[in-house]
Amino acid sequence: MPRVAMWLIPLFDPSFVDDFWRDPERVKDHFLGFGIDNIRHFQMTTQQFVATTAYRTLGQIGLLFIDGRHTEEQASFDYEAFSKFVQPRGFVILHDSMIVRNDKVYGEENAYPMSVKNFVDKLKLDPSLQVVDFPFGHTGMTLLRKVDGEAGRNLHDWLDDGPNIKRA
Ligand SMILES: C[S@@+](CC[C@H](N)C(=O)[O-])C[C@H]1O[C@@H](n2cnc3c(N)ncnc32)[C@H](O)[C@@H]1O
Repeated sequence: MPRVAMWLIPLFDPSFVDDFWRDPERVKDHFLGFGIDNIRHFQMTTQQFVATTAYRTLGQIGLLFIDGRHTEEQASFDYEAFSKFVQPRGFVILHDSMIVRNDKVYGEENAYPMSVKNFVDKLKLDPSLQVVDFPFGHTGMTLLRKVDGEAGRNLHDWLDDGPNIKRA
């Protein structure tokens, strides 16, 4: 299967739910199954990762996918930590973002209210963002992009002269 991207995809997951992220070979094989051989997994929380040198040298992000602990507070932390690196015309996806209900992923006894939706509802009030919900699965997801100066440029100009395209 051909690889789908040339750049490095950083992933952050401390493996709090199961053992999957504790086994580098399993993680590597899982993504190789999708033709993806360019991930770098950090087995840590976002809170731990923001204190590392790797965080400070992240560079631009084309697609930010947020699917950590499903609380308003954690979604907000993840968004604040990474959205500043999202490149012009980049996207953010928040998973499990449309329903407030108990999350039992840590077991019945550790159920907690899933509240990413509350954070998304606040983002929807920001006129500098375009935010749309997709009612997929049981809990939905939300796609977001920043409407900044770059985003307002004529699309064709941007394609001809965009930040990632170098012409002779
Ligand atoms: C619903 S699972 C989704 C995992 C992965 N996106 C997937 O689809 O398999 C939520 C994940 O959030 C991780 N998590 C919990 N707290 C976190 C934190 N503070 N920072 C980063 N990840 C966290 C857990 O380890 C768990 O694997």
